[in-house]
Amino acid sequence: MTSVIAATAAFIEEKFQAEGSGHDWPHIRRVWHVARALGADTPGTDLEVAELAALLHDIADWKFHGGDYEAGPRAARAWLLSQQVPEATVARVEQVIREVSFKGLGVETPVSSPEAAVVQDADRLDAIGAIGVARAFAYGGHKGRPMHDPSTPPVSHADFEQYKQSTAPTLNHFYEKLLHLKDRLHTPAGRHLAARRHQFMEEFVAQFLAEWDSTDVG
Ligand code: ADP
Ligand code: NI
Repeated sequence: MTSVIAATAAFIEEKFQAEGSGHDWPHIRRVWHVARALGADTPGTDLEVAELAALLHDIADWKFHGGDYEAGPRAARAWLLSQQVPEATVARVEQVIREVSFKGLGVETPVSSPEAAVVQDADRLDAIGAIGVARAFAYGGHKGRPMHDPSTPPVSHADFEQYKQSTAPTLNHFYEKLLHLKDRLHTPAGRHLAARRHQFMEEFVAQFLAEWDSTDVG
């Protein structure tokens, strides 16, 4: 690990210690480790760029900055320049951060580099599987949403503005986003890992609904 990666990890760990909205340090650490693993299996990946971008991808999540898409890249730039990282590397990390964010099912999020592919895949992989289930309910609880309400069916949000306004029950989020993520991954290594996590989530939803209606009783 280069010293700038170690310094960035320490900086972000400290900054995200008390984050309650699903972007805590453990999330970032998982995205970092998974991005590194996917990068090792994805030809052409510059691991230093991928690791730095993974560590910095939520540094100033634009959703919490009045919709300013440049807040994250800008904060990442300031940090990296303070660490004497060369401009060429800074610019590449910024571009990866711009490309990571999920903007709704109706919005394509193309990637322009292997580094962006592995970081975007790693971030999405953390929204599915057992951790994905836990994060969804943690987020729903944080927002005061009900877990489930059969009278509020899931809707297909064509655009992200509509998606962000949604106050739907947390289970709807599975149909509106989480169960689609495996088809939105870029790298073969990411898709391989997603298959297992997706399967687990399908089973979770089926079991949840059986217990909800008590159809699993004897
Ligand atoms: P990221 O910035 O990591 O791409 P988001 O900010 O979109 O992800 O979401 C953070 C976590 O909160 C994810 O696990 C996501 O599934 C969950 N989440 C986001 N929106 C909702 C929602 N409407 N209901 C339940 N969980 C949500
Ligand atoms: Ni993230």
